[in-house]
This record gives sequence, C-alpha cells and structure tokens, in this order.
Amino acid sequence: MREQLEQLRNGALQAIETATTVEKLQEIRITLLGRKGELTGLMKGLGSLTAEERPAIGQLVNSVRDEIEGALGAALASAQENLMAERIRSERIDISLPGRRPVRGTKHPISLVIEEVSAIFAGLGFSVAEGPEIEHDWYNFEALNFPPEHPARDMQDTFFVENSMLLRTHTSPVQIRTMLKQKPPVRIIAPGTVYRCDSDATHSPMFHQIEGLMVDTGVTFGDLKGILTVFTNQLFGQKTGVRLRPSYFPFTEPSAEVDIACVICGGKGCRVCKNSGWLEILGAGMVDPEVYRHVQYDAEQISGFAFGMGIERIAMLKYGISDMRLLFENDVRFLRQF
Ligand code: PHE
Repeated sequence: MREQLEQLRNGALQAIETATTVEKLQEIRITLLGRKGELTGLMKGLGSLTAEERPAIGQLVNSVRDEIEGALGAALASAQENLMAERIRSERIDISLPGRRPVRGTKHPISLVIEEVSAIFAGLGFSVAEGPEIEHDWYNFEALNFPPEHPARDMQDTFFVENSMLLRTHTSPVQIRTMLKQKPPVRIIAPGTVYRCDSDATHSPMFHQIEGLMVDTGVTFGDLKGILTVFTNQLFGQKTGVRLRPSYFPFTEPSAEVDIACVICGGKGCRVCKNSGWLEILGAGMVDPEVYRHVQYDAEQISGFAFGMGIERIAMLKYGISDMRLLFENDVRFLRQF
C-alpha cells in the first residue's frame, strides 16, 4: 500500500509538471482525486488494513493528497496566467492603425435644391405647406378653375386613379388646401412630387415642383416680380436677369412665364437656351378671382400671386446636368458629386 501510494505520488507530480494547459490539469485532477479517481480507489483499500497499520497509512494518504493538490493548484494558477497573457497578446488593439470610416451618404441634388429654395423663401417670410400626392379632381383642377372638359386639362397629361382621384399633376392643389384651412395673409411654398404621363430626356413621369402662394391686402404684380427677382438672384447669383412673358394658366390672371438669363452662356446664346439667351424656369401670375370664390376668400378685399417651378429643371441648370434621367437612376458615382 505504501509503495502504491508513493508510486502514485511520483507519477502524479511528473504528470502535473509536464501538463501545460488548464484543461490537461483539470483532467489530471479528475483521474487522481475524482470520485472514481486513482487515489480515491486506493483509499477504499484502507478498510482491509490492520488497526496498527491504519494510522500511518492514513497519514500518508493525506500527505500524498495534499501534495498532489498543492502541485495541481500551483500548476493551474500558472497555466491560467499564461492563458491570460496569451489572450492579452492576441487581442491587443493596434491603436496606431487607421480606423475604418463608416461610408457616409450624400444628399440628392433634388433635396439640395428643395432645401436651398425653401431657405431663400423662409428668409422672405414664407412657410412650408404640404398636400397629398393622390389628389381629388376638385383640388387639382376644378377649384383651380379648370372646369370639366376644359381644354387646359390637356396641358397636364393626367394619371387617373379611380372615382375622380388622380395623381396630382402639379403642386397647385396645395394652394387650395392652404386657403381652405387658413384666412389671409398667406405666404407659403409647397415643395412636392407631381406626376404626368410624359417621358424623355427632359421629362419624367414623376418629378418635383415648388409652389408659391402669397395672398394679403394690396399684393400687386410688382410684388410678384420683386419676390421672384430676389429669389432668382439668390439662387443663381446676384446679376441674373429676370424676364416675364405673358402666358396662360386657368388659375392666374394675368399669367406669366418667368425666364432667367441663360446661366450657361450668360445671355449670349448657346445650345441649352436654344440661342435665345433666356431660360424658362417657372410659371406665375395673380391668383384668379374664380379661385378665391372656391375657397370663400373675398376677391374685393384681398389679392395675391402664385408661382410654380420644376425642381429638376432648376437642379439641371444649377449643377450643369444634361439628362434628367441621371437624377432618377441613383448611380452613386453620380450622386456623390453633390
Ligand atoms: N401649376 C402650373 C404648372 O404646373 C405652374 C403654375 C403655378 C403657374 C402657379 C402659375 C401659378 O404648370
């Protein structure tokens, strides 16, 4: 028994010395000291010893167990220390390495123009109004003085939905919605998406407009020209010339088309302005009394003007974009340039 114990101890100490990993050491603890372990097995033999032998052997068993446990404990501690040191080494963060930057998007040119135009008009006391894109015929046409069967409805290639509902062909219905909600004075702009059944290099079935409406006592055509001059000068540069040409819209009287001196050639004549030196950028006019009748405004008391511009056209002129379709393809190589 004594011999067996000594053998066990020597073997155990050697095994512990050569084991390097925490797992290996734990394995050794189980095979020696576990419930079915070797030392436990030997201790079961104590019962067959004589009463004289028992105390001395018992003592030896205890000292062998203590020795093994001590050696295991020390070896485990150092293995754990090595493990930690290895982890610290392998997980070290090299703070001198340049970080990976998150990819940041850019604003779409349409959004940039909407923001810039809105900021200019905010400075002139206009606030932003909105309306639905699926609109009732009454707001899109009827209240804007397009009676049923009126030929001016043909100017706007309408997408119809059902039961007098349609995709709004312009942002002008927001004029009606705003005036029905609020009494004069009114000073709003309404940026938004509009739809027309039309598609080529300069027309898209879905595009954007910004509507403007100002109604108050004593608003004149001079105020319209003044506001639009301040606006175009701020948007395209200080000395951009503005020209108003007579035009027709059912909801304004008189009506005008507004041109700016060509931003490409400065008015000398080029391909973009078709050698005229001028670029049409918006439609405008004094609000027709017939429109006031539909929203219960008293045309004897107040007057006002409205205007509407195509945002794609302004973006193309401002950023020198030659094909409108580029604005909707969403090629990031194109979009990142703005
Ligand atoms: N709604 C008109 C269009 O889309 C533009 C416009 C707006 C004209 C306001 C005059 C006044 O063509």
